[in-house]
Amino acid sequence: MKYEKNILCIGAGYVGGPSMAMIAYKCPTCKVTVVDINHQRIAAWNSDDLPLYEPGLDAVIAATRGKNLFFGADIEAGIRENDIIFVSVNTPTKVFGVGAGMAADLQYWEKTARQILQYSQSPKIVIEKGTLPVKTALAMERILSNNKTVHFDVLSNPEFLSEGTALRDLENPDRVLIGYRDTESGIMARDTIVEIYAHWVPQERIITSSIWSSELSKLVANAFLAQRISSINAISALCERADADITEVATVVGMDSRLGNKFLNASVGFGGSCFKKDILSLVYLCRHYGLNEVADYWEGVVKINQYQNDRFIANMLSAMFNTLTGKRICLLGFAFKANTGDTRESPAIVIAGRLLEEQAEVVISDPKALKNAGADLEGIAGKISYVLDPHEAAQGCHAVAVLTEWDIYRDLDFQKIYDNMAKPAFIFDGRNILDHKRLFEIGFNVYPIGKPALTHF
Ligand code: UDX
Ligand code: ADP
Repeated sequence: MKYEKNILCIGAGYVGGPSMAMIAYKCPTCKVTVVDINHQRIAAWNSDDLPLYEPGLDAVIAATRGKNLFFGADIEAGIRENDIIFVSVNTPTKVFGVGAGMAADLQYWEKTARQILQYSQSPKIVIEKGTLPVKTALAMERILSNNKTVHFDVLSNPEFLSEGTALRDLENPDRVLIGYRDTESGIMARDTIVEIYAHWVPQERIITSSIWSSELSKLVANAFLAQRISSINAISALCERADADITEVATVVGMDSRLGNKFLNASVGFGGSCFKKDILSLVYLCRHYGLNEVADYWEGVVKINQYQNDRFIANMLSAMFNTLTGKRICLLGFAFKANTGDTRESPAIVIAGRLLEEQAEVVISDPKALKNAGADLEGIAGKISYVLDPHEAAQGCHAVAVLTEWDIYRDLDFQKIYDNMAKPAFIFDGRNILDHKRLFEIGFNVYPIGKPALTHF
C-alpha cells in the first residue's frame, strides 16, 4: 500500500510510544514506524504487555499495530525509508562534567542526530519531540549540514501530554506547537507537519512559531506548572503553622478567574521526568546567559519541592516520637502521580530512602508501579517489601503514608486497616485525598498537608 506519509519516531518511550500511536490512529493514510535501541522495549510494544501503563493505550495500539503502526529495532532502515523523523529520545539531567546536576544530557540526542546524518539518502524533515534546551535545533542543523547531498529541515514540536491522561491529551490537545525556520523549505516542512495534526486537531489549536520560541515555550510551560505546585506547597507549610487549611485557601485563590483552579493541590512534592529536569535546564540556560537573578528565581521552585519532601519526613519523625527505628511504615502509592506506573523522580523514592536511613521497615504498595519501585530501590540497604493489596500492606504497620493519589485509596476499609495496625496508629496523607475527620474518629492520628494535624494526644 502507498501511504500519504512515511513517519519514523526514534525513541519508543513515554512520549514517543503514545504520541505515535495517536498519529497512526488518527491518520490511517500514514505509516508510522517507531524504533528504539532498547530491544526489550520494542518487544514489549509488540506484545500484549505494553512497556508502560497508560489508560486507553491498549485500545489505540490494538487498533493500529500491524496496520499502520510498527515497532522495530532497525534504526538504519527506519531512517533510510522514512522522510519525516520525530526524535523522542531521552534527555535526562547531566550527572557528570560541566553542568552536572543542571544541564540536559544531550548524548542520546546527539547520537541520534549522527545516525540520521549517516543513514539518510533522501531529504528529511527532522522534528524534535522531546523537551530540549533552547538552540538544540541549531546543533541538530549543524550536525546534519555535514551531509552536503541531502537536505534536512529541523522543526520543534514539543509534546505537552501529561502521563495518566496521555491519550486524552493527545486526542484533544490544548494546543499543538510547531516551531520552524522562516525559510522556503522550513515553511514547507512546517506545513507538512501541520497536515498530520490537522487530521484531528482544529486548525486554531495548531500554533506555529519560531523554532526558538517553540523550544523555550515547552520549558516555560513546565516551569510555570511546577511553580504553581511549589507556590501552593510553600503556603501549605504556613497553613500548618497558622492553623489555616490549604484546601480552603486554594479554593478561594482558584476562584479568581485570572488564576484558575487547576494545579493547586498541595502535596508531598511534584515528581515526574519533566518538571525538575526542565527547570534545572532553564536555570542552567539563564546562568549561561549571565541572568543569575532569573536563574535563582526558578531554582527556588525546585528548592521548595525538596523542602516539601524534607518537611514530610520531618513531620513523620516528630509525630512518631523522633524515632522510626524498627517501625513498619506502609507507603500507599509509589508512582509519581495516579494512573501511571512511572516512578521517575517520584517523591516516594526520596521518602522511602529517608525512612530506610532512619532504619524503618518499609512496605510499598501501588497498583501499577511495584516493578519500577523495585528497580528504583535496588541496592538500597534496609528492610523493604512490596505488597500489591493495600489492606495487607498496612497490616502490623505503625504508620501509613499516602504518596500517590490513586482513587482506590479513597475507598479503603480504614476501620479494618486501623484494627490491624500497631497503636498508636498514624496516617500521613501526602496527597490530601482521605477523609481526615473520619480517620480521626476511627482512632488514627492524622497528618494532612497544609492543615492542622488531628491527634489524640
Ligand atoms: C507534565 C506536564 O503537565 C505536561 O504538560 C508535560 O508534557 C510533561 O510534564 P506529567 O509530569 O506527566 O506532565 O504530570 P503532571 O500532571 O504535570 O504532574 C506532575 C507532578 O506534579 C506529579 O507528581 C503530580 O502529582 C504533581 N502535582 C500536580 C501536584 O503535586 N499538585 C497538583 O496540583 C498537580
Ligand atoms: P520520554 O519520557 O522522554 O519518552 P523515555 O526514557 O521513556 O523518555 O524514552 C526515551 C527512549 O529513547 C528510550 O526507550 C531509549 O531507549 C530511547 N533511545 C535513547 N537513545 C536512543 C537512540 N540513539 N536510538 C534509538 N532510541 C534511543
